[in-house]
Amino acid sequence: MRTQVGIVGAGPAGLLLSHLLHRAGIDSVVLECRSREYVEHRIRAGVLEQGSVDLLRRSGLGERLDREGLRHEGIELRFGGAAHRIAMTELTGRAITVYGQQEVVKDLIAARTAVGGDLRFEVEDVRLDGLDSDAPVIRYRHQGRDEELHCDFVAGCDGSHGVSRPSVPAGVLTEYDRSYPFAWLGILAAAPPATEELIYAHHERGFALYSMRSPEISRLYLQVDPETDIAQWPDERIWAELRTRLETVPGWTLNTGPILEKSVTGMRSLVVEPMRWRRLFLAGDAVHIVPPTGAKGMNLALADVTLLGDAFAAWYREGRDDLLDAYSDTALRRVWRAQHFSWWMTSLLHRLRTDDPYEAKLQLSTLRYVTSSRAYATSLAENYVGLPEV
Ligand code: FAD
Ligand code: DHB
Repeated sequence: MRTQVGIVGAGPAGLLLSHLLHRAGIDSVVLECRSREYVEHRIRAGVLEQGSVDLLRRSGLGERLDREGLRHEGIELRFGGAAHRIAMTELTGRAITVYGQQEVVKDLIAARTAVGGDLRFEVEDVRLDGLDSDAPVIRYRHQGRDEELHCDFVAGCDGSHGVSRPSVPAGVLTEYDRSYPFAWLGILAAAPPATEELIYAHHERGFALYSMRSPEISRLYLQVDPETDIAQWPDERIWAELRTRLETVPGWTLNTGPILEKSVTGMRSLVVEPMRWRRLFLAGDAVHIVPPTGAKGMNLALADVTLLGDAFAAWYREGRDDLLDAYSDTALRRVWRAQHFSWWMTSLLHRLRTDDPYEAKLQLSTLRYVTSSRAYATSLAENYVGLPEV
């Protein structure tokens, strides 16, 4: 079988790329190792930057997003027993929208299937060959049969554990990374959010985040040890710890309810350069990872494939390769801005090392500064709502 662009991975990156290529008249096939049901219900990110919302709307994907997405014009930083609002829209003119990643994925799958898009779920043993030739081949197994997908280009959108990046010969790519001595325990709860805006709480026992998915569903996170065994966290312990870290403002209480899902996610920063090798183009988590504190992961994935979609369109329509050649450098400018912001937010808000009171004092001073200086608050806000490449 033949297509123009073979895409590995049906996360936000691979699905949006396939959708944008279709709109530009370019054929693609998406190969995904999980089932459709699985990818449509995988609970992950929840915050869309203004630019991501504009892009989804422009691409014909705004209908349910506009109906169900929650537009937020500020966030709260909570520390030292007080609430401090960062007025994002007042400071930047832009806003964020809370809309679950799995909803973006559902909308994209619906849009692709509505026009007969070729998405293959539950494929196995994906291998990339001929990436340094003009005729790459993706080999895989599907429904018990060995298959070959011949294409002009391969887009590696298969996330942090995919096969695309490891298919590049050793010595070609450079990795820049950072690990953190903590993880997030996340829950989804059938409880109306006790707050209209997201609360990022800095507490001596560790970071906590109050987010949401709808007027009935709350999404909350706790900083925990990376070795945490979720079995040691029965629901009552989770709520008690959330209360300790969040109920620090007089008169404020959180709402509890049945916990629908809970999981522990490790935290890491990683950038792999360049984001291209010959006929393989890497996008999203396949080539960079951020800790979740700045809510940038999904937004970066969407931004990468927007560039890639335009670059493929220029190649197929006009025979131009300048945008394909510029893809990695252009994308990396946004990637590194988000790397810095995510690292900064993570370092500012988490409990760092128990034995270093100096660092804790610096955090508090920075928190006071960012919540009292319009200049510093504007810097946080413009990064949070999303900057163009800088
Ligand atoms: P993915 O969404 O990972 O999609 C990659 C796809 O490729 C997957 O469907 C995978 O099944 C498929 N795949 C992998 N290997 C193969 C293979 N060999 N063959 C075929 N298919 C393959 N970001 C935030 O901003 N806020 C958050 O709260 C947040 N929480 C997160 C929680 C978790 C547990 C994780 C893992 C990530 C979280 N992120 C969060 C990050 C955000 O979800 C990612 O940045 C985003 O999913 C990136 O999209 P992507 O399309 O690049 O990769
Ligand atoms: C959510 C996740 C984040 O990492 C974040 O910074 C804000 C919100 C969320 O899942 O809602």
